[in-house]
Amino acid sequence: MQTALRASLPETELAGRANFAPHARVVREERPVQASGLPLSIRGLRKSFGDNEVLRGIDLHIPAGQFVAIVGKSGCGKSTLLRLIAGLDKIDAGSLSFGQEIQPEDIRVMFQEPRLLPWARVLANVEVGLGRDRASSDAHARAEKALIEVGLADKRDQWPSVLSGGQKQRVALGRALVSRPRVLAFDEPLGALDALTRISMQRLLERVWRDQGFTAILVTHDVSEAVALADRVLVIEEGRIAHDVTVNAARPRQRGSAELAGLEGSILSHLLSADDRT
Ligand SMILES: Nc1ncnc2c1ncn2[C@@H]1O[C@H](COP(=O)(O)OP(=O)(O)OP(=O)(O)O)[C@@H](O)[C@H]1O
Ligand SMILES: [Mg+2]
Repeated sequence: MQTALRASLPETELAGRANFAPHARVVREERPVQASGLPLSIRGLRKSFGDNEVLRGIDLHIPAGQFVAIVGKSGCGKSTLLRLIAGLDKIDAGSLSFGQEIQPEDIRVMFQEPRLLPWARVLANVEVGLGRDRASSDAHARAEKALIEVGLADKRDQWPSVLSGGQKQRVALGRALVSRPRVLAFDEPLGALDALTRISMQRLLERVWRDQGFTAILVTHDVSEAVALADRVLVIEEGRIAHDVTVNAARPRQRGSAELAGLEGSILSHLLSADDRT
């Protein structure tokens, strides 16, 4: 069942962690509605592709439930770091720990492309995110609840092809949320959306994060998005975390406020000065 389900999935929604324990196949008890976020500790993490040393010693501690944004110029290794965190790729050296043994459903990734199954209706696409629990008796109810959370309950019987780009991303978010992940990693999930849809999706991401308490790791090109959403913004440069900026602004945040604009300006100047050096 698990194998068949994986084969039908677009790449990685059920992260095939090489390091998941074999007992991960054992049916678990229902996850509590308020599963808390997991902390993440990374020490001396390195990753190369051939002789391209992409990550050259990442040291990072993310407390449980924190919202972290990762920025850096194109090709600096943001997606690589996210894939390592999600267990979609193997680290070369160093360590990466969530402080306890994790289950496949604990970590979910959302990508820029919604990666929906075109032959499955919206509700079934969300159920896919349940992984091993997809066959359980409450699978429909859980998927319906996730669709309500993302504001798409009325689309449950639609095919993905008739949805707008923003609606498809909401389905992808519902699929990511349905298993109540403890870590949710986003790789530029809003990059392809128009400005208004993007702002409404940012609000939705912030709301579900506040409601559910998962640890959020958002890779984005958009520094204003990073400071609007995150507790902390990491700038990756030359394979390391070059800047670690705390965003103390109270929530709900005032977009365009002087405080956020100041932070955005200082992060952008880090990025631009790094670009000038290369
Ligand atoms: N599977 C792979 N095989 C070989 N090289 C790879 C692989 N994945 C990534 N790389 C290389 O690693 C480097 C970092 O890539 P990565 O996708 O992590 O960058 P990024 O910061 O996410 O960039 P972008 O902002 O453009 O998405 C690039 O030089 C890329 O070519
Ligand atoms: Mg990338």
